[in-house]
Amino acid sequence: MAEQDEPRRLRDDAETRHFIEQSLNALFAPEDDALRAALEAVRAHDMPAIQISPVQGRLLQVLAHACGARKILEIGALAGYSGIWLARALPPSGRLISLEVSEKHAQAARDSLARAGLTDRAEVRVGPAAELLPALAGEAPFDLVFIDADKPGYPTYLDWALRLTRVGSLIVADNCIRGGRPLRGESDDPTIAAIGAYDRRAASDPRLLSVAFPLDDDGMDGFAISVVIAPDAANVSGPSA
Ligand code: DHB
Ligand code: MG
Repeated sequence: MAEQDEPRRLRDDAETRHFIEQSLNALFAPEDDALRAALEAVRAHDMPAIQISPVQGRLLQVLAHACGARKILEIGALAGYSGIWLARALPPSGRLISLEVSEKHAQAARDSLARAGLTDRAEVRVGPAAELLPALAGEAPFDLVFIDADKPGYPTYLDWALRLTRVGSLIVADNCIRGGRPLRGESDDPTIAAIGAYDRRAASDPRLLSVAFPLDDDGMDGFAISVVIAPDAANVSGPSA
């Protein structure tokens, strides 16, 4: 290929990636009014538009069904967009507990879940996750934990996720790639260092079988997905839960 064609090829590739993303969202993860309203709430409340993509929402649902999830814990609610995807994967008797540090965001998330008709199974608790997590022991084990909150907290949230799950549960964390920086080694940036620590632990902890892959932000970010394969010594939900 002639050198002057390179910019055009890059532009065509970017357009193709955009087309693929839009098409997969439309085909596999179409949004309804309730999901669109949750996105609108992000804009209306001047919140950061950092919610998961539709395909990521569908992936969470596939995973929730695959592990027969009846109880889901979400750390970081934002305006309830991911909460709608998660709660819709539950049976009517199921339960989503979503932790959110911001009162304003928590109220937006509650409103989103209410518009989606999910108040019977979804609850948003306000406060720093590190303070709310210890109180969840009585409600464990959770079948799926979705971590999508402040990044420096990720290693702590992984500790709690292990305590609050059972063998066979899934632990999913958003933003585990972050443009590759966490994969380059130690970092002075607390966000990047924490994500790197999370990734290394997810990859090597003998209690977890994990994978991470780029599926968001044009290949620059994505989920780490772990299945719990051995019990945590400090598991609060007992050995056979
Ligand atoms: C940020 C946080 C997220 O959870 C995300 O998906 C993207 C960006 C952020 O804090 O910048
Ligand atoms: Mg995120």
